[in-house]
Amino acid sequence: MSLAVQIDQNGGPEVMKLVDVQVGEPGPGEIRIRHKAIGLNFIDVYQRSGLYTLPMPLKLGMEASGVVEAVGEGVTHLKVGDRAAYASQPPGSYCEVRVMPAKCVCKLPDGISFETGAAMMLKGLTAQYLLRRTLPVEGLEKGDFVLFHAAAGGVGLIACQWAKALGLRLIGTAGSDAKCQLALDNGAEFCINYSQDDFAAKVKEITGGQGVKVVYDSVGKDTWDKSLDCLRPFGLMASFGNASGAVAPFAPGVLGNKGSLYVTRQTLFSHITTRERTQAMADELFDVVLSGQVKIHIEQTFPLAQVQDAHRALEARKTTGCTILTL
Ligand SMILES: NC(=O)c1ccc[n+]([C@@H]2O[C@H](COP(=O)([O-])OP(=O)(O)OC[C@H]3O[C@@H](n4cnc5c(N)ncnc54)[C@H](OP(=O)(O)O)[C@@H]3O)[C@@H](O)[C@H]2O)c1
Repeated sequence: MSLAVQIDQNGGPEVMKLVDVQVGEPGPGEIRIRHKAIGLNFIDVYQRSGLYTLPMPLKLGMEASGVVEAVGEGVTHLKVGDRAAYASQPPGSYCEVRVMPAKCVCKLPDGISFETGAAMMLKGLTAQYLLRRTLPVEGLEKGDFVLFHAAAGGVGLIACQWAKALGLRLIGTAGSDAKCQLALDNGAEFCINYSQDDFAAKVKEITGGQGVKVVYDSVGKDTWDKSLDCLRPFGLMASFGNASGAVAPFAPGVLGNKGSLYVTRQTLFSHITTRERTQAMADELFDVVLSGQVKIHIEQTFPLAQVQDAHRALEARKTTGCTILTL
């Protein structure tokens, strides 16, 4: 048996309930993993609220670390007793122990704690595919400007540090001066408090009127229009989230008027479809973390039983960096 967080209907944090569930043996391609720590992500909020619709009842959570307890037929990269961590579908990581597909589960290097592993897999692999694989048609070179919204958040703080390590000049945005300072302390070259300042005007000022090559936008509804104004011709609008709400439909003609822009909507789960690709991405993440180029800031910790409070804090923009649930 395992305690797990389940919802029977979409709604606010109060719909999340701790239930006892049966945990069986892993089938072919699966493992059973006993969690040590669980990562909190904004996608959990979308799945709980119903912005992303999934069948009910639904177990929540997409990221965790733990110890492999049993291995199903055909799984060769993991064995019983291995320390491991993952960002993976299907949801269901908010629990003590689970059976799940092994494909996206990676062995955790000895130098990375369970807490860090749980905090960094979904957010760090996201920063990896954004900065390393979601590139403008003209490419990204050292010294290029990029704009990264919500720079003091979970994905944001990792991206600030990674961008600096890659030699990129990251302009961040964040909702308070204190959050901006945190982003600056972690590698952002500039950070704009977008709850006070017109970020498009500031970006133009910082870049001498040129604009940036890429905008990485996870805020969505509130930042979409102005983000397009931050791009230089042939720039890339990389949308990857909707913390403020879903982006409204738009007419493609606007992209021509603003400089023949490109738009993409990315999701991690298109990138980690195979074991090999997931491991290659994870290896890059492990390298930057083990080398100290990227520090994983776990700024909030909640016991699993207080998951409702964790969601409330995340949605109210009260968190910075990563948040984990403990067991
Ligand atoms: N597509 C993918 O592959 C993928 C993968 C991982 C994450 N994501 C997305 O990336 C974003 C960051 O994820 P995360 O888990 O690291 O969360 P997070 O950045 O720690 O938290 C979200 C942040 O968004 C900002 N925000 C702006 N408007 C908001 C609003 N109306 N309500 C709530 N927050 C608002 C807040 O920062 P400020 O107060 O500084 O504005 C808040 O702290 C999320 O949108 C998530 O869905 C996408």
